[in-house]
Amino acid sequence: MADKSHGPDLILRHEPRDRVLHWLIVIAFVGAAASGMALFHPALYWLSNLLGGGRWSVILHPFVGIAMMLFWVPFARMAWSENRLQPYDRRWLSQIGDVVANRDDRLPDIGKYNAGQKLLYYVMVACMIVLLLSGIVIWRRYFAASFPIGVVRLAGVAHAVAAFVLVLGIVVHVSAAVWVKGSISSMMGGKVTPGWAWKHHRLWFRERIRSQGTR
Ligand code: HEM
Repeated sequence: MADKSHGPDLILRHEPRDRVLHWLIVIAFVGAAASGMALFHPALYWLSNLLGGGRWSVILHPFVGIAMMLFWVPFARMAWSENRLQPYDRRWLSQIGDVVANRDDRLPDIGKYNAGQKLLYYVMVACMIVLLLSGIVIWRRYFAASFPIGVVRLAGVAHAVAAFVLVLGIVVHVSAAVWVKGSISSMMGGKVTPGWAWKHHRLWFRERIRSQGTR
């Protein structure tokens, strides 16, 4: 395991641009999720305080959602090729018991992301598309009046379902990020130790060493 204090030994995992986009997505997600939940159910109304109360939540929620989308599109495009499913992902998934029990030595070598991260990525992509399209249809101030009421109602249900699935997905995403020690610091500072890369993403580690070496 490399000593973290020796910068040159570390491996770049997340470019500065991607880290900035990721944390902007997080900020927008918290604002959109809190205001959305506040509007969804009276029991969650207290969450509207984050955006300055009920009235401000109604006004700002769609704009915060659009901001999240603007940060998400370039980030998701960057991550697209790294999340393509590979033959070894099936094996990794079939050994999920070994993953949970930390028996890394039994797992196949994998690329930059594991199969769990990849499947979650596709869930995020699908939810974002549904949230954007349905959100436009139900945006009362500008668009809702242009659609038949049946379509607006259907879009309302789709919006709530996609938001629910996304929030659940993010709970899993954050839990996994906390569980895999060194993962969050890679999204903060950009780098991981060679030991981390070897333990969790061996194929990616070899590719990085071959193409660029350590930085
Ligand atoms: C506090 C909330 C969050 C934390 C702590 C967090 C943490 C992380 C960390 C540590 C990574 C790097 C994983 C690795 O290098 O293997 C990552 C990647 C990523 N995050 Fe987050 N994240 C959060 C919220 C979000 C949100 C709200 C979204 C999108 C809606 C998101 C989408 C992604 C995606 C797409 C990746 C790349 C992984 C992949 O493409 O499979 N994250 N996140």
